[in-house]
Amino acid sequence: MHHFISFEGGDGCGKSTQLQQTAAWLRQQGQQVLETKQPGGTGLGLEIRRLLLSGEFPPVSECELFMFLADRAQHVKEVIQPALKQGQWVLCDRYSDSTLAYQLAARGLDCGVNLRPMLAFAEMGCVPKQTFWLDVSIETALLRIKKRQQKGEKNNHFDDETMTFHQRVHQAFESIYIENTTRVVRLDASQPIEVIQQQIRQSIIC
Ligand code: TYD
Repeated sequence: MHHFISFEGGDGCGKSTQLQQTAAWLRQQGQQVLETKQPGGTGLGLEIRRLLLSGEFPPVSECELFMFLADRAQHVKEVIQPALKQGQWVLCDRYSDSTLAYQLAARGLDCGVNLRPMLAFAEMGCVPKQTFWLDVSIETALLRIKKRQQKGEKNNHFDDETMTFHQRVHQAFESIYIENTTRVVRLDASQPIEVIQQQIRQSIIC
């Protein structure tokens, strides 16, 4: 039995907080938990992340896709698979659904060539047992990004994208949810943090 859970959602949906609280709760039950993220769950991945998010050398969409997949392959083999083998729970902030939403859907790469086998190749059979999708309206997401900016947090490359881009990301997550209702749990991210956390705890399959 593997305990691999991903957390997904548009930018500023609050998934990192939910991931941390879920990890703390599982540890209280005596479980070993690894909290990790994509991009940037390995040393190499952190370098890839820096390149991807700094905006210093903006990649073309095709290159951006390969960079996310490179990060994922390294992360799966170096970190996720070994942790799962040791019986740990792995909670990952973003995974392949983000690539489907941001690169294939929002960047519009999903035409002509079937890229899904490549996504599966990078996963190496490591598919989340459950995915918590924090569904937040685009307006709320943009507001939260703005607040973060006002607090002096640096913008990332994706925060500057257009409304249409964020709408496409949202639509893609919606489709992923509809196509995978057994794996993906949809959570209304406009609810208070504690309410969402309660829903997560009730949905987790041990
Ligand atoms: P991060 O700071 O982790 O954003 P957030 O706090 O919103 O999760 O930055 C990750 C960014 O990378 C985020 O905007 C989504 C994007 N991303 C992709 O475009 N494709 C992917 O496959 C992944 C994993 C992330």
